[in-house]
Amino acid sequence: MGRVYIRTRLIVLTLAFVFFVTGCVGGDINPESKAPMKVPKSETPAKDQITIGFSMDTLKEERWLKDRDLFKEEAEKLGAKVKIKEADGDDTLQIVQAEELISKGVDVLVVVPFNAESTASIVNKAHTAGIKVISYDRLIKNADIDLYISFDNERVGELQAEAMTMLVPKGKYVYIGGAETDNNAHLFKKGVFNILKPSIESGDITVVFDQWTENWTPANAYSNMAAALGANHNQVDAVIAANDATAGGAIKALELQGLKGKIPIAGQDAELAAAKRIVEGTQIMTVYKPIRTLAKTAAELAVKVAKGEKIETDRKVNNGKIEVPSVLLTPIAVDKLNIDETIIKDGFHSREEVYQ
Ligand code: GAL
Repeated sequence: MGRVYIRTRLIVLTLAFVFFVTGCVGGDINPESKAPMKVPKSETPAKDQITIGFSMDTLKEERWLKDRDLFKEEAEKLGAKVKIKEADGDDTLQIVQAEELISKGVDVLVVVPFNAESTASIVNKAHTAGIKVISYDRLIKNADIDLYISFDNERVGELQAEAMTMLVPKGKYVYIGGAETDNNAHLFKKGVFNILKPSIESGDITVVFDQWTENWTPANAYSNMAAALGANHNQVDAVIAANDATAGGAIKALELQGLKGKIPIAGQDAELAAAKRIVEGTQIMTVYKPIRTLAKTAAELAVKVAKGEKIETDRKVNNGKIEVPSVLLTPIAVDKLNIDETIIKDGFHSREEVYQ
């Protein structure tokens, strides 16, 4: 085999090698190539990285800070990115913020609505942009939402009333409701009255005051409780407040009348302040909703929805327009007797914090 032949072969082989190498790296150079182009991650935000838009009503109550941080943490564990917007209880701002997330091209939108009704407009806009919407903790009403994940909120109210009627089977009750704009407030109240109904009908229990608390604020709850005490000459036997923040406001009004710790009061959310009140005896119970479970489940479902995966749920909730596929988690009643093996065991609050 002569030298010329070997040299020619060498040249041909070298040319072939050079041609091959240039074809791989400069992807766009060879659009016809059928080979899957592996584009290095760092260069472009890989479209396969899912971006979740998280539109929150408020961070006013302690729990929402946990929801924000735990949802982000769980979603990032799944490789997703989370864009968070918080509207500070401003309806219009929440809609503007959601539009921003939609225009930024998020892959799925997770919403904690301020106003259950007006947030429907966000759903329509998202769907027009091909983005699915998940209702987080609070239901968006009268809209084609894709998924609803929360706790069994009617059960929350039932747990509160079960605990209170055990302690005060007869007497005058005050109900400090949540925000009327929040569908959850209606579910909590329904749960409370599911349990009180037989005692109301028998005349054992009289509900002498029952008001919504605008924007869930402790100040409005304080005014409600002061009005209830005033109207009943402080002759009240039990108070059920829709959450711990409103319970805190109501207790301020009780304190002013020297009734703190004398009239039993129930709350919800297992806030630290409430946990302390329970061990010191100025609040009888709260309803614990394990936020990590809610956030983790919601993050998993959001990623699946963004990937276009089919979601099977064991429940449907009617939101006034459709039967929404739903996941409803179990709330837990917490009082002085089980506070250690529930919120403290879960690390929701530390023993030092609660008992200091
Ligand atoms: C409800 C929520 C409660 C409570 C309240 C006030 O929708 O389920 O946990 O904190 O909002 O933000």
